[in-house]
Amino acid sequence: ADNGTDLAAEIRRMCKEKDAIILAHYYTDGSVQKVADFIGDSLALARKAAKTDAKIIVMCGVHFMAETCKILCPEKLVICPDLNAGCSLADSCRAEDLKKFKQEHPGYTVVSYVNTTAAVKALTDVVVTSGNAKKIVDQLPKDEKIIFGPDHNLGSYINAVTGREMLLWNGGCHVHERFSPQAIVEMKKEHPDAIVLVHPECKGPVVKLADVVGSTAVLLDYAVAHPDKEYIVATEPGILFEMQRQCPDTVFLPVPPEVSEGSAGCSCNECEYMKMNTLLKVYNALKYEWPSVDVPADIAVEAVKPINRMLEMS
Ligand code: 13P
Ligand code: SF4
Repeated sequence: ADNGTDLAAEIRRMCKEKDAIILAHYYTDGSVQKVADFIGDSLALARKAAKTDAKIIVMCGVHFMAETCKILCPEKLVICPDLNAGCSLADSCRAEDLKKFKQEHPGYTVVSYVNTTAAVKALTDVVVTSGNAKKIVDQLPKDEKIIFGPDHNLGSYINAVTGREMLLWNGGCHVHERFSPQAIVEMKKEHPDAIVLVHPECKGPVVKLADVVGSTAVLLDYAVAHPDKEYIVATEPGILFEMQRQCPDTVFLPVPPEVSEGSAGCSCNECEYMKMNTLLKVYNALKYEWPSVDVPADIAVEAVKPINRMLEMS
């Protein structure tokens, strides 16, 4: 296999031969999304993993997504094309710190975003994604005291739309925090009628400028339902691949990141972890059935409970 087309064909052939399924997040490179059996937001990927009959799952996303697959399907071989595909948001909450925080706040229910390690999920009462967080928090008793982590921006947004006062962990995603309200205001001058789509991992002032706030799937569905509009998109630009595929005549404008002194001159709004999934790595992962992701049994047995609770409540 010496080019993209051959690699993709070989990947598809091996999937059939080995009874493997490729799941990919919307933020991965278009070439990876194209070769996948299923693409989705983090909720849809977890749901798909929970019900697949395939023997091998190749999870093209980031490490915590592969862990979630393994927790839901312990008997399956779960492969992550690059184990270095981490997540700054998941990294912002260490299990030992959450454990200590829980001890300092007895009687609190822990609601964790899916962007967390398996060890953090094991300390969690219910997992949420940006696609179901409001729905799930709304189902918890009104007087329940809640710790929400690790994404501070998503937590603030959920507090605002549910009227709760959840105690928020101070974590964030370095990709979404790079978007500035100024950039959107500038784009609106040129495109006054454009609809502003914002992921709730963005900072509060960016979320305030949104016409639609939601998970990648929510933003995509909105555009597909209104293809006659123009869109300003404040999330990782990998989502534009599927938006453009489903709405070939629609204009989608990715918001450039803020380039400040603190951001070390970074002018990229891409998630470098998601982009670690290349066609060649998917090919090698399938060929060698490696590297696999495993979750220690004592952690998995606890982590599966809040994930299943999420799947039941959403
Ligand atoms: P969703 O796919 O749930 O919108 O999450 C975005 C994200 O940052 C995943 O890492
Ligand atoms: Fe994590 Fe942010 Fe990348 Fe999503 S975009 S995987 S939250 S670092």
